[in-house]
Amino acid sequence: MKILLATEKPFAAEAVEGIRGIAAEAGHEVALLEKYADRQQLLEAVASADALIVRSDKVTAEVVAAAPKLKIVVRAGAGYDNVDLGACTERGIVVMNTPGQNSNAVAELALGMMISMARGQFTPGTGSELKGKTLGIHAYGNVGRLVGLLGKALGMRVVAHDPWVAKEVFAADGVGVAESVGELYRVSDYLSLHIPATAETRGSIGHELLTSMPKGATLINTARKEVIDEEGLTRALDERADLKYATDIAADCQAALCERFGKRVFATAKKMGAETAEANVNAGLAAARQISEYFLDGNTKFQVNKG
Ligand code: 3PG
Repeated sequence: MKILLATEKPFAAEAVEGIRGIAAEAGHEVALLEKYADRQQLLEAVASADALIVRSDKVTAEVVAAAPKLKIVVRAGAGYDNVDLGACTERGIVVMNTPGQNSNAVAELALGMMISMARGQFTPGTGSELKGKTLGIHAYGNVGRLVGLLGKALGMRVVAHDPWVAKEVFAADGVGVAESVGELYRVSDYLSLHIPATAETRGSIGHELLTSMPKGATLINTARKEVIDEEGLTRALDERADLKYATDIAADCQAALCERFGKRVFATAKKMGAETAEANVNAGLAAARQISEYFLDGNTKFQVNKG
């Protein structure tokens, strides 16, 4: 079978080598498309692919239509909002993600952003410490949980909201529970966002939640830009000179935010939460293994478009 590794943002060489090794052992061949500049290159490359590994690369209905042999797509990472599940399901294409494989890298970045914002992005002047502050975790999945544990190690009080997680899990981690999203934002000096981008969450974090946060609060977004209501964010930052926003996924209006709010806002130059060699190896090799196992015995453990 032919596995296409299509990554506009390439994996570390070590990860690509590992993927090739796993594929070769299972008798598959790997084609590599990295740093592609336009969609046409992806459309041409998928034409002969039986399997596809991507990162945040958009697997649209157009891509699916251009891939007549495609049987499986693995998003090497957690969020699969970049894959048109409907188009894949209609064609009987299995879609998987690799949950947990890049979580530590994202959690470390979230913590780094918190420290940076507490210290005025390392510009001279008096900053503050994380110790003793309340850290809110919005969605307690793999990344959220790790951010909470890191916060606890720094002496923060950690509170989470996630209706999908059993109370015992929070209790076992020594993490407080906020019964509602509103309660979570009201108590959080630092709020780390880990909700996926879905029809329900898009634009859901805006003016009301942000202005309900305590004085001097900071919102840290290593999730998705789509969950932010940018107009509401702008208004909140305007009205509350004490609020701060740091993101790994620049807002559409990021240039305007930076111009207007200076060091109170921060965005990485390009999404880099999962940009560590370790995360690349973990997620890339997991994707290759999942594809090999699917072709070997139909293993669909990580399938996200099961009927
Ligand atoms: C994920 O959903 O796994 C992260 O957002 C990482 O995305 P990336 O592979 O595009 O860096």
